[in-house]
Amino acid sequence: MTRYVVRPMQFDDIDAVGEVERECFTTPWPASAYRRELRDNRTGRYIVLVEVTDEGRPAPSGRRQEVSGEPAGGVRRAVGQFLRPFSRSTPVPTMVANERIVGFAGMWLMLDEAHVTTIGVKRDLRGQGLGEVLFATLLDLAMHLGARRATLEVRVSNYPAQALYRKYGFHEEGIRRRYYSDNNEDALIMWSDWLGSPEFQERYRQLRAQLEERLGDLVEIRL
Ligand SMILES: CC(C)(COP(=O)(O)OP(=O)(O)OC[C@H]1O[C@@H](n2cnc3c(N)ncnc32)[C@H](O)[C@@H]1OP(=O)(O)O)[C@@H](O)C(=O)NCCC(=O)NCCS
Repeated sequence: MTRYVVRPMQFDDIDAVGEVERECFTTPWPASAYRRELRDNRTGRYIVLVEVTDEGRPAPSGRRQEVSGEPAGGVRRAVGQFLRPFSRSTPVPTMVANERIVGFAGMWLMLDEAHVTTIGVKRDLRGQGLGEVLFATLLDLAMHLGARRATLEVRVSNYPAQALYRKYGFHEEGIRRRYYSDNNEDALIMWSDWLGSPEFQERYRQLRAQLEERLGDLVEIRL
């Protein structure tokens, strides 16, 4: 059985995140950038999507194997109290679980603005709602950390990502000419509506409910 866990990114994840990055972007961030983000950037919040496959044979210890990594402490642990998990399904105690990182996302929280810096899902797992899980989780985190709006840049040609953002009410507010150095492509600057507005909250609530219905027990949020 395969299921997915969203949890904070840790140092040990960086190599695996890099592999997914290279599938996602023509100019991926180097490992050093992630190390700097996790170590030095107090405004940064990064999460990973872990695929967990139960192989159906007993674990050597006879105990359940947890998804690696403890949730980060401090504010993230506090935030975990607010985040409603998609599911809290308990793995079968005697299964061996294989894990691999299949997605990631991150943002900077600057005063009351959340700047989404990155998001990506392994190519063969796209189109199943997993990117949306990451994006919705980032927004949830942003709201609980006090963000009032969220913004991001996206390539003008990146229609799938733009559709994801528009689904959550993001709209274009400007353009950064020749923003991407690899091909001099322009970036759309997109902004959310006010995250606390009744309209955004209602849209978010409905989308989140649809996502839970779609993915149900498959996804667990552990922040
Ligand atoms: C953007 C990305 C993370 C989306 O992940 P995903 O798991 O494929 O997306 P989901 O299956 O969760 O789709 C969620 C929504 O995104 C939009 N979307 C996703 N793929 C789409 C596609 N190929 N065409 C149109 N819309 C698409 C839809 O609105 C979709 O909602 P729907 O299922 O109700 O139609 C993924 O395409 C990716 O990793 N791309 C490469 C990295 C990248 O471009 N990151 C963004 C940088 S700004």
